[in-house]
Amino acid sequence: MSESDTRHNQSPLLIQCEDVSKWFESEDGAKLTILESIRLSISEGEFVAIVGASGSGKSTLLHLMGGLDRPSGGDVTFCSQSWSAMSDRERAKVRAADLGFVYQFHHLIGELTALENIALTLRIQGQSKSESEHRALEVLDQFNLSDRSRHYPHQLSGGERQRIAIARALVHHPRCVLADEPTGNLDEGAAATATHLLVEGCKARGAALVIVTHNPLLAAQADRTLTISQSHIF
Ligand SMILES: Nc1ncnc2c1ncn2[C@@H]1O[C@H](COP(=O)(O)OP(=O)(O)OP(=O)(O)O)[C@@H](O)[C@H]1O
Ligand SMILES: [Mg+2]
Repeated sequence: MSESDTRHNQSPLLIQCEDVSKWFESEDGAKLTILESIRLSISEGEFVAIVGASGSGKSTLLHLMGGLDRPSGGDVTFCSQSWSAMSDRERAKVRAADLGFVYQFHHLIGELTALENIALTLRIQGQSKSESEHRALEVLDQFNLSDRSRHYPHQLSGGERQRIAIARALVHHPRCVLADEPTGNLDEGAAATATHLLVEGCKARGAALVIVTHNPLLAAQADRTLTISQSHIF
């Protein structure tokens, strides 16, 4: 049994990759294998860092874990349910309820204010406008961004945008946050602030955090670090 397959704590399993492979076929028919027979488990509340060279397949793996992409082989389960056995509608519902995503570039909606961007996560779940905005304001307050609630993304600094994106990923108390180089675009100070909010926000909510990072200091804070190299995970 490989290191990546070993259960590191006794919490219930949240995400499981069972012999997951991902390959692409180029136009000339050549098979480009990105991930091969990946076996790994993420437990509830766990903090896992994923590292690896550019192009090694980190984002690909994160997308597979979050049901945003389908494996070419093997199976990915979330709360013991296979993503591939769910309909598009069911997948969307599980993602909206139980997952938060943070990307390198904030991916906020330019036409919505900071408050509306965060509240949207709850609106998608069917919560009322007033309740959604009330809860969004609470998180903005925790993140020291109350005075930015009516700003549009283009009126915010890079660090503020990313803090809003983190607030959006946490506001609905997901079981898991998947973060893909969330501070890769920020200077050291802004990155440290955003990272602190993300890590502590997940801890406070008991959410698992899977984070792709090039930052060794951040990886060192994780319960364990997985490295992707040559299509395998160690
Ligand atoms: N749709 C696709 N078709 C063909 N190849 C793809 C596709 N998507 C990704 N790839 C290839 O898969 C490999 C892994 O990509 P991925 O984005 O997962 O890498 P990464 O580890 O996240 O890199 P980075 O650190 O630069 O973000 C790359 O070589 C990429 O070119
Ligand atoms: Mg990537």
